[in-house]
Amino acid sequence: MKKVRFGIIGCGLMGREFGSAVGRWCHLTENVATPEIVGVCDFNETARNWFTDHFDTVKYSVTDYQELLNKEDIDAIYCALPHNLHGKVYSDIIRAGKHLLGEKPFGIDKEANEEILHALKENPQVIVRCASEFPFFPACQELIRWIRENKFGKILEVHAGFKHSSDMDLTKPINWKRTIEINGEYGCMGDLGIHTQHVPFRMGWKPRNVYAVLSDICKERPDGKGGMAPCKTWDNATLICDTETETGDTFPMFLETKRMAPGSTDEWFIEVYGLNCSAKFNSNDPNAFCYTQAVGKEQAWCRLNVGYKPLFSTITGGIFEFGFTDSILQMWCAFIKEVCGEKVEFGCFTPEETRLSHQLLTAALKSHKEKRVVAIEE
Ligand SMILES: NC(=O)c1ccc[n+]([C@@H]2O[C@H](COP(=O)([O-])OP(=O)(O)OC[C@H]3O[C@@H](n4cnc5c(N)ncnc54)[C@H](O)[C@@H]3O)[C@@H](O)[C@H]2O)c1
Repeated sequence: MKKVRFGIIGCGLMGREFGSAVGRWCHLTENVATPEIVGVCDFNETARNWFTDHFDTVKYSVTDYQELLNKEDIDAIYCALPHNLHGKVYSDIIRAGKHLLGEKPFGIDKEANEEILHALKENPQVIVRCASEFPFFPACQELIRWIRENKFGKILEVHAGFKHSSDMDLTKPINWKRTIEINGEYGCMGDLGIHTQHVPFRMGWKPRNVYAVLSDICKERPDGKGGMAPCKTWDNATLICDTETETGDTFPMFLETKRMAPGSTDEWFIEVYGLNCSAKFNSNDPNAFCYTQAVGKEQAWCRLNVGYKPLFSTITGGIFEFGFTDSILQMWCAFIKEVCGEKVEFGCFTPEETRLSHQLLTAALKSHKEKRVVAIEE
């Protein structure tokens, strides 16, 4: 079986999730190359040691990412660093000729995103994608199939969102994800937005304009040293967009990204309302595909327990339950297939989609500031 040799830059929360997926690659029965972790980079030694302790394939454990980019026995990089580093580091990875799975928001702002896309234009031979795992839940894949089969008829509206509640705890200390300098002006939209955009953008639904309502609810947080630090990032965002399909039809799309949503623990959802039928997926009920059926002139909601029927085959029986780490494994399978030149039914977020994401979020900031609808500039 072919191998894809990886370097990981950023060995924190998400770096370890990749490690875990690699550790159980045998879970997949799909015909796919095997990732091997050859190098790790992080300036935190403890973070690197987790990899050297668990993977005897790691040859390089470094603090300077350039060292990994110089290695001929590394084919691809997973980069999971804070947002302020995306522009420079992603561009360097691409220029070094390594395939890249980067993390959202794929540049701290539009300028940084353009820098990355420019590097890619000069190096089109590498496969570059942005991580986004939730659409790989089987019940969401079913919803995607329904969209592609045109089952909804005229679309009335689409709602997609990603909501957290841990920031409701005002005693939670500040971290880099709550500072403008490192997380960026987009705030919660940069952190959570791409997750909400992946399915709509892939379905060819383009926001043409946006009206944004942004809330900075928590103005300061404990600094972890006994004092308080300013917390200037947007906590909650609701975007309303006139959205156009590939056939020129339009409908309103509502995108919600919230850090202060009561009761939401990593709640990701998408709801499609159509004239013929409607359907929804919510990670709070991860095995359920909900859809309407006409009962005479009325609509009844049905709940189908989809079970474990992912896009890429695995050893798990179809009656079992699917979860977050399974979606990560499926996302990685999609990426590695694309690196190996295979076409996939549904793949990771593309660089072009990150461009649209930044156009939307930049317009959203302007919309909120000027309290008006702002066109999305292409
Ligand atoms: N796909 C998802 O569901 C998901 C979830 C959380 C975060 N993310 C994204 O993943 C990325 C990383 O987030 P995280 O939660 O893993 O963060 P984290 O803080 O847990 O990890 C970041 C790591 O980068 C290291 N680091 C920072 N600067 C460095 C440098 N200059 N050189 C080397 N190492 C450096 C830190 O020591 C840390 O170990 C972000 O882009 C974030 O938006 C994605």
